Amino acid sequence: MPAAVKISQVYKHYGNLTALDNIDFEIPEGCFFGLLGPNGAGKSTLINIMGGLVRATEGSISILDNDVNQQWRQARYSLGVVPQELVIDPFFSVIETLRLQSGYFGCKNNKEWINELLEILQLTDKRDTNLHKLSGGMKRRLLIAQALVHKPSVLVLDEPTAGVDVELREVLWEFTKSLHKDGSTIVLTTHYLREAEELCEQIAILNNGKLAALDNKPALLARYPYRLLQLTLTSAADKIPESLQDKVQTISDNELVLRLHRDHDQIGAVLESLRTANISFSDLHTQEPGLEEVFMSLTNKI
Ligand SMILES: Nc1ncnc2c1ncn2[C@@H]1O[C@H](COP(=O)(O)OP(=O)(O)OP(=O)(O)O)[C@@H](O)[C@H]1O
Ligand SMILES: [Mg+2]
Repeated sequence: MPAAVKISQVYKHYGNLTALDNIDFEIPEGCFFGLLGPNGAGKSTLINIMGGLVRATEGSISILDNDVNQQWRQARYSLGVVPQELVIDPFFSVIETLRLQSGYFGCKNNKEWINELLEILQLTDKRDTNLHKLSGGMKRRLLIAQALVHKPSVLVLDEPTAGVDVELREVLWEFTKSLHKDGSTIVLTTHYLREAEELCEQIAILNNGKLAALDNKPALLARYPYRLLQLTLTSAADKIPESLQDKVQTISDNELVLRLHRDHDQIGAVLESLRTANISFSDLHTQEPGLEEVFMSLTNKI
């Protein structure tokens, strides 16, 4: 089975800046894949190379075995890209934009599909509205519809929920989940790590143009060997025992959060140290790490 997306030794230089530094990985067909990373990591650059909007300085990308430069037409047909930037032509209406896009892909009998897209993305009552009259969130919805008119088997979403209200975010996730269930490959970039954690089966983390991690979700979460112990304090914790000082994540008048190593720190011993130091508490609970902690540690934020 060919990879949905095969990225081979891709470099992108902008003058002295290396936006992508030897990126090399594959996205399997049918996968719900998360491409994550802080601002400026190189995510959009990589996505724009996939979509043929930016040329790699070195290396290649193929979509279902079609090179995005050499077999650009076939590659483009398999791919729908929702760009991060809201670039649209203000002279057309919503429906005209979708018809034009269909024409570009040679799709003739897709009226029903367009109506379905308008309905799902709650744009039906805006079908004849000119694009310059749409709000930011509505433009984003249109970009999503536009990426899907030709029913691509690989859908790439570059921050699709930026500026989108909560209700539509839910609708959008249900929709992408159903496309995925029907066999589409979904590549998602988002800064909402909880959403990525819920949706994505595999996750790549880019940092400074380099691949910092690539793994399936459970393996990635297991990489972070800590859990948090939260204590509601009933006495001041001004004298934290020395053995716990390097484990303090946050401390305030009424809450102490300790970061404990999963293998090396025993909760019983930690509580005993607190008791000896006369630090009392009324409640405690532990929290397993999520993607946010893994992300922060891999991108050197903690
Ligand atoms: N056309 C360009 N000319 C010069 N530098 C660019 C250009 N496009 C992107 N860059 C730089 O390349 C790096 C990667 O940018 P990119 O847009 O890919 O990041 P990103 O991971 O998508 O970030 P964000 O989360 O903010 O969208 C950044 O340092 C950016 O300033
Ligand atoms: Mg970006």
